Amino acid sequence: MHHSTILGLFILLSALSRSYAGKVLVVPVDGSHWINMKVLIVELHSKGHNITVVRGSSSWYIEEKSPLYSSITVDTGEFDDDFMEKFLPHLLKMQRRGRSFWNEMALADETYRRFTEIHQLICNMTATMFENETLMNSLKDAAYDIVLTDPAFGGGVLLAHRLDLPLVFNVRWTMYGEAHFDIAPSPLSYIPVTGLQLTDKMTFSQRVMNVMTYIMILYKNSKYFGSPYQEFAQKYFGPNVDFFSLLQNADIWLMRNDFTFEFPRPTMPNVVYMGGFQCKPAKPLPDDLEKFVQSSGEHGVIIMTLGTVFGQLLSEINDDIAAAFAQLPQKVIWRHTGPRPANLGNNTLIVDWLPQNDLLGHPKTKVFVAHGGTNGVQEAIYHGVPIVGIPLAFDQPDNLSRMQAKGTAKIVDIATLDRNVFLEALKEVLHKPSYRENMQRLSRLHHDQPMKPLDRAVFWIEFVMRNRGAPHLRTQSFRMSRIEYYSIDVIITLMATVFIFAFVTVYTIRYFCLVVFRKKVKRE
Ligand SMILES: *[C@@H]1O[C@H](CO)[C@@H](O)[C@H](O)[C@H]1NC(C)=O
Ligand SMILES: *[C@@H]1O[C@H](CO)[C@@H](O)[C@H](O)[C@H]1NC(C)=O
Ligand SMILES: *[C@@H]1O[C@H](CO)[C@@H](O)[C@H](O)[C@H]1NC(C)=O
Ligand SMILES: *[C@@H]1O[C@H](CO)[C@@H](O)[C@H](O)[C@H]1NC(C)=O
Ligand SMILES: *[C@@H]1O[C@H](CO)[C@@H](O)[C@H](O)[C@H]1NC(C)=O
Repeated sequence: MHHSTILGLFILLSALSRSYAGKVLVVPVDGSHWINMKVLIVELHSKGHNITVVRGSSSWYIEEKSPLYSSITVDTGEFDDDFMEKFLPHLLKMQRRGRSFWNEMALADETYRRFTEIHQLICNMTATMFENETLMNSLKDAAYDIVLTDPAFGGGVLLAHRLDLPLVFNVRWTMYGEAHFDIAPSPLSYIPVTGLQLTDKMTFSQRVMNVMTYIMILYKNSKYFGSPYQEFAQKYFGPNVDFFSLLQNADIWLMRNDFTFEFPRPTMPNVVYMGGFQCKPAKPLPDDLEKFVQSSGEHGVIIMTLGTVFGQLLSEINDDIAAAFAQLPQKVIWRHTGPRPANLGNNTLIVDWLPQNDLLGHPKTKVFVAHGGTNGVQEAIYHGVPIVGIPLAFDQPDNLSRMQAKGTAKIVDIATLDRNVFLEALKEVLHKPSYRENMQRLSRLHHDQPMKPLDRAVFWIEFVMRNRGAPHLRTQSFRMSRIEYYSIDVIITLMATVFIFAFVTVYTIRYFCLVVFRKKVKRE
């Protein structure tokens, strides 16, 4: 055979083996998490997989019709969704009042109440599906290869168990907290619990705080967030089924972070890091924007966006932010909707949408002002742009505190933010070279890996489809009780053995001593 024929055969074969088309059932989380899930869906679609998405009828973002997937819409009933209109503004107002113990407690309480409701809603939605015979039969007949889900909410886990399908997570959070804590050993001596904004170097009092918070989170999350699912699992799968075990039983955990972002920690064979999977090289800017950027000359530009939802909620501080920008020689591109801030300088361009990725990748971009949301931090790492952070809610403070600990970001507390504080923060990040150098180093580390994060994620999804799961990567820990897991039973048994042995030895020696002593006495 000619070399070219062999080569052709090889190419054909490898193309064939690669064109394995699977059927993926996606159970996403609505809102900003959907943006991330969609990145995976686009990639899976481009590889020829058939994708079905389960969505609630009250979905905010998940479109019913899409060229990428077919959808199953489940009736969620009337859910009075004032999350965006009332809850978030309320949350921000409380934040603005400043950090006091009571304020934090009230904030946590409000958040817990809201999320408990949403978990309940998800359970109701899943029950609607389970009780619809027609739907369940059609799902069975469709013979999916895997369920891909975001376990921040538990619907996908329940559905995968019911359909007996392999399970892949696109995850950073589960209902119990940061996902690593659910499967990997997590010594609290050097792994900070999210929410405290601590680093991997903790003082004694910080470690006390860390342990106490961990216990509280564990208790509260399983009580409020876990229990609806636990009840559900027992109702539909039997009294011995533990929801937490179903969760831990997932085949692959595609983690939306990596160690340029996270502090080093123990991990598991079925954890795959895909941090930065949503990032792409920058494309050229539209002409008018490019012109504006170039007009900044040697000073460069500052990019500011506080995300889709939060941007317009902060009108009271917008004037201060605008005034601070006006005092800088840099040009500013600010994504902002709502009323035009007063004090706007002529160096500031207000836009209602900006190509964030392309701007961050532009060589003239000096600083990124961000709230630490979904893609911002990762894209800043990817392009090596230092951050001035204005964290607003959820895990954003922690996201930014990790960056601050690595010397790549400066955080401004929204409770104390005014024009001077903001201006000082901007100047510090602009003029102190360490911020940029540290971020560029992180960026180099992030890029220096054998496979792109998105390719790695898709490889593992396809791996699970080809091999019907990945049980060989799953530890047995989820089958164990806490007593077994921490070997408490073994330790108690060993200690008891040592104790009995010591007791018997001492007793025997004493007995023989007595016998010998008595004989001596008799002889005398
Ligand atoms: C869920 O269903 C229960 C019982 O049908 C109902 O009482 C509850 O209000 C529902 N919750 C939500 C958030 O829809
Ligand atoms: C059950 O599911 C089928 C298919 O999705 C749908 O057409 C039907 O309306 C559902 N039935 C009920 C009672 O919700
Ligand atoms: C994808 O799967 C769905 C559900 O089984 C099916 O209705 C549809 O025809 C499939 N689409 C393609 C392009 O194979
Ligand atoms: C912008 O404002 C500054 C000071 O307020 C002024 O010196 C400068 O000429 C203005 N530039 C333009 C292009 O209007
Ligand atoms: C925090 O950062 C992680 C990793 O970049 C991201 O997945 C998450 O969505 C961010 N948090 C928020 C609230 O956006």
